[in-house]
Amino acid sequence: MNGAEAASSAPAASDANVKAFGVYVHWPFCLSKCPYCDFNSHVRHAAVDETRFLRAFQTELAATAARVPGRSVSSIFFGGGTPSLMAPEIVGSILDSIARHWTVTEDAEVTLEANPTSVEATRFRGYRAAGVNRVSLGVQALDDRALSELGRLHTAREALAAVGVARSVFDRYSFDLIYARPDQTPEAWAFELKTAIAEAAEHLSLYQLTIEAETRFEALHAAGKLMMPDEDTGRTLYDTTQEICAAAGLPAYEISNHAVPGAECRHNLIYWRGQEYAGIGPGAHGRLDIDGVRHATATEKRPESWLMRVESLGHGVIEDEVLTRDERADEFLLMGLRLAEGIDLAAFEKLSGRPLDPERIHGLLSHELIQTDVGGRLRVTPAGFPVLDAIVADLAA
Ligand SMILES: C[S@@+](CC[C@H](N)C(=O)[O-])C[C@H]1O[C@@H](n2cnc3c(N)ncnc32)[C@H](O)[C@@H]1O
Ligand code: SF4
Repeated sequence: MNGAEAASSAPAASDANVKAFGVYVHWPFCLSKCPYCDFNSHVRHAAVDETRFLRAFQTELAATAARVPGRSVSSIFFGGGTPSLMAPEIVGSILDSIARHWTVTEDAEVTLEANPTSVEATRFRGYRAAGVNRVSLGVQALDDRALSELGRLHTAREALAAVGVARSVFDRYSFDLIYARPDQTPEAWAFELKTAIAEAAEHLSLYQLTIEAETRFEALHAAGKLMMPDEDTGRTLYDTTQEICAAAGLPAYEISNHAVPGAECRHNLIYWRGQEYAGIGPGAHGRLDIDGVRHATATEKRPESWLMRVESLGHGVIEDEVLTRDERADEFLLMGLRLAEGIDLAAFEKLSGRPLDPERIHGLLSHELIQTDVGGRLRVTPAGFPVLDAIVADLAA
């Protein structure tokens, strides 16, 4: 499917209330730990017993399907960690298992996150044969020095070669870049981004480097050995990103995600629109609607502990909390305002039992940080996105 074809079949804001159901599967292993990353990812020097993990994924899927039977799965996402370290047969068996427990829609989006090394690219055909129809590649930078500083195991040339393989194997692919890196100038980023866009198809994820707690970058930053761009430079880098992407036909549909209209990542839209999804595997989160209430679930994070828990108890869930109306409404606001389409005010009111405070809306409108429309949607403006956290805090208060 090319971008134009995708545009005719992909979800629009009006589909936000359609009953979607996603399945997230977490593969928690990586070949090495990147110094900026705080995802649930672990390095193991001995071989990982993939067959044993497969059995545990199948067990957890059965337990989850028993709680939320009869769902129609519109999206499946293998995230990590590095799911492209999994054998294609294992991915195929997990997909078969999902299809045994639920109905998978004919046009379901099935994404797998891949690291762009030459070894991993050789598995792409196997993933396609297994049922994957979209890959998301962690390219991160197109500059070898930056890649080495980010602790990546691939060069820019190798990453672009992997993008080329993805293009030849899949109709849909995306890749991630990290910007606002130490010493990065807006000019250098503009050049890098334009090079990336020439290689991109319908979708790009562009994240500003964040210093996460308990990472090696945090220690370096605290020791004054990693200089992050100052606030003004960060803002210029963000504005440059928006301008270049919009001019290239890849506007932001979410604060860090850009797509040809219609080619948005349907799986991530499920999260941002507050829809229902199952989380399978170590440290996976889920949002399940059971008996009219929403459950927030989380599984054991440590891979081997998760494995033993599933083997002994039949599932790895360690948190299962029923969200209150207020919690659910806050989450709806927090996630939905990240999207360019914004939120449906009536849907917010239905969830929370109260409208948003008109005075706060008025204040934000007068500063042109948000806008509302006759269809009853409220969205953050381009001027508002750089201060999104403050807007959410204001509206949720
Ligand atoms: C689950 S992670 C990585 C997927 C895959 N393992 C990889 O590295 O290519 C998803 C994305 O989050 C982004 N990311 C992770 N940590 C980040 C940080 N501290 N700041 C900005 N972006 C980050 C990266 O672009 C990464 O590709
Ligand atoms: S960025 Fe990706 S490869 Fe690096 S540690 Fe995190 S999950 Fe693993």
